[in-house]
Amino acid sequence: MKPLLLALSGNEVIGERLAAAIAAKYSHPETRRFPDGETYLRITGDVQGRDVILVCSLDQPDAKYLPLIFLAETAKDLEAHSVGLICPYLAYMRQDTRFKPGEGITSAYFARALSQHVDWLVTVDPHLHRRKDLSEIYMIPAAAVHAGPAIAAWVRDNVPMPLIVGPDSESEQWVAEVARSANAPYMVLEKRRHGDREVEISVPDISARQDRTPVLVDDIISTAHTLIATTRRLHAAGASGIIIVGIHGLFAGRAYEELHATGALKIVTCNTVTHPSNAIDVTALLAKAVEELMRA
Ligand code: R5P
Repeated sequence: MKPLLLALSGNEVIGERLAAAIAAKYSHPETRRFPDGETYLRITGDVQGRDVILVCSLDQPDAKYLPLIFLAETAKDLEAHSVGLICPYLAYMRQDTRFKPGEGITSAYFARALSQHVDWLVTVDPHLHRRKDLSEIYMIPAAAVHAGPAIAAWVRDNVPMPLIVGPDSESEQWVAEVARSANAPYMVLEKRRHGDREVEISVPDISARQDRTPVLVDDIISTAHTLIATTRRLHAAGASGIIIVGIHGLFAGRAYEELHATGALKIVTCNTVTHPSNAIDVTALLAKAVEELMRA
């Protein structure tokens, strides 16, 4: 029996693509809000004995979490053989330590909670910084797909003479991979964050690189202040025609408009979070990881 792939609300486009790539039956659950704000849901289609794959990107995660775990529990209740989760953007990865006394380490709590409800998890470039692997916090098989090859292919097809630029030391992991596969040089800048929207970037001398098109690559664009500060500094250093690539375009508030106002030539993102800037498709990478995980 084919697996049943259920796309939660907002995940229909990538859900249909994934179902085709994995050869799963595509469906989406019936959901609505009761007048008091509680969630109603219903799975239509045969679940008993079947592998069920949920698709839910967890941008704006708090409102999405309850429907997600209710759906997972419903599938188990209806005697699914297994219940896995494709989560193109995995939330709650950045608070991975206690920066100030009394803070909650929410990445660990979230991982522990989600691990109770699904049998496996596949995601794209989770924000692993102080932790090196999802297995340090997830108690289920959890695979992290790298968007690097898809980004490199986009750069090769769209940018002549690229220079891949990472805004901070954390970005070196994906910047180096993209540069290698796109056969381009790269540089990593220095960032100091003083608050959610206060970011300082140091740019080295780039006069020897004026023949190249800077392609800024970051994993998450949230307030966009990291990339706004980087774009401004690069412009001040003489760069032009800057292209911005984000893996996960969260674009909090007016972040997209503010980033656009810097004069960057193009802003593109991967389709892990649905947004008009989606230009890089990670479906094939996700499908391959799911197939490997389900075979294991
Ligand atoms: C930093 O740790 C991440 O790699 C991103 O640079 C950061 O999350 C971007 O956030 P924002 O868009 O709010 O500057």
